[in-house]
Amino acid sequence: MQPLVITVDGPAGVGKSTVAHLVAKRLNIAFLDTGAMYRGIAVLCLEAGVDPKRDPHGVARLAEQAQIRFDWQADPPGLIVADGESQRDLTDSLRDDNVTQTVSQIATIAMVRKILVDAQRQIATDRLRLVTEGRDQGSVVFPDAPLKFFLDADPAKRAQRRAKQLRDAGVYVDENKILDSIRSRDYRDSHRTDGPLMCASDAIRIDTSTIKQEIVVDLIVKQVQQYIDSQYDDHGVWKGMG
Ligand code: DC
Repeated sequence: MQPLVITVDGPAGVGKSTVAHLVAKRLNIAFLDTGAMYRGIAVLCLEAGVDPKRDPHGVARLAEQAQIRFDWQADPPGLIVADGESQRDLTDSLRDDNVTQTVSQIATIAMVRKILVDAQRQIATDRLRLVTEGRDQGSVVFPDAPLKFFLDADPAKRAQRRAKQLRDAGVYVDENKILDSIRSRDYRDSHRTDGPLMCASDAIRIDTSTIKQEIVVDLIVKQVQQYIDSQYDDHGVWKGMG
């Protein structure tokens, strides 16, 4: 099997995780949620009482010791950390409110980003074929990926979708507060110096404000299939990389 990395980046609440997961399923290849890795470190910081603003070195130590990995048998893959001799699955805690509030601070720490970027590259080497989603996958982590996508949508539209999701789940929400939170996460994500949210110059940008998720998935899968076809000659022999 020839290696293939497909990157899907974009701002908070644009639906890239769902899209990337569906694309990976359709192509029958691995799905990597890199935000889960940053969230996993946030869980460990909260448990250990390490304040990322005051003690970035403490956060980096936790990230180094944690040996973050994924349970690839689960769908989507579960986030595992080594805890001494044993392993723990943190997946159920990753979306907690306090984790969401802490994680963007953690994502600004260069030492943590380096540890996680190295881990992401190792995962791509081990898994061979991967759809990976985050903020910096096409721009920093996999600049040579042959297929890069950047999903975007109007912040108001993203807030509206998130509010609907929560209302459908029976949760009372203030849509304006969600919009404020999306705007401030966008600002923090795109203004950090290391691995900021950005659209790589060779990425295909898709504005999902008015397009249904299934159509976005179809569009990406079609591009990938065209790319894969272009890699083989008329006799079905792989033409090689580059
Ligand atoms: O996509 P998400 O909401 O799960 O991401 C959680 C946080 O991690 C968010 O603040 C952005 C940050 N992040 C990042 O800096 N780089 C990535 N590759 C993925 C996420």
